Amino acid sequence: MMLQIPGVLSKDEVARLRAAIDAADWVDGNVTSGVQSGLAKRNRQLPEDSAAAREAGAAIVAALNRHPLFVAGALPATIFPPLFNRYGVGESFGDHIDNAVRQSRDGLVRIRTDLSMTVFLSEPEDYDGGELTVDDTYGVHQVKLAAGDAILYPASSLHRVEAITRGERVSSFFWIQSLIREDARRALLFDMDLAIQRAARGLGHGDAAVVALTGAYHNLLRMWAEV
Ligand code: NI
Repeated sequence: MMLQIPGVLSKDEVARLRAAIDAADWVDGNVTSGVQSGLAKRNRQLPEDSAAAREAGAAIVAALNRHPLFVAGALPATIFPPLFNRYGVGESFGDHIDNAVRQSRDGLVRIRTDLSMTVFLSEPEDYDGGELTVDDTYGVHQVKLAAGDAILYPASSLHRVEAITRGERVSSFFWIQSLIREDARRALLFDMDLAIQRAARGLGHGDAAVVALTGAYHNLLRMWAEV
């Protein structure tokens, strides 16, 4: 399942965050790559342990944890500390699948990457090219969202960032270990959650069918969750 999450950050939050990270020192993006993806990657990145990355990353994680659509769609167990990259003209990241396990530099966070996420920090009109292109079982999806919006997709997907032909693309990217490892189960719980919320709006939260369905949702989650 690919899920667009609008308004993770407000335009003001994006502007503040951009001012902080744009002023920091950026390095070659291959610092976080495996050997194979290093060959395909042309971009720059904020060092993972820089103060700018840590502060901006904490702001993004806090915003995500407040966002009901993110919580319902990702069912997050652990969010990897967000990383930041920028692509200028001629830069791109060729086809790859993200590493299955990711450990933070300080060794404090180690996760299985169930989900990949990109939070866009440039407006789409500020650059040409730079689409995030994701191949999944339903076809090829090209994603380019407004600054502050995010896309969540299975980390098992083959994906790439198309070459930039004008301007610059800045984004945050990171991974999530979900309470629900399997994408199909997570998608089913998400659909069920949305349907229950819709039913509750129509019938009221105290309606017997809504109460029963909410209970069934939690019992499925309990059956499948790894915490
Ligand atoms: Ni990737």
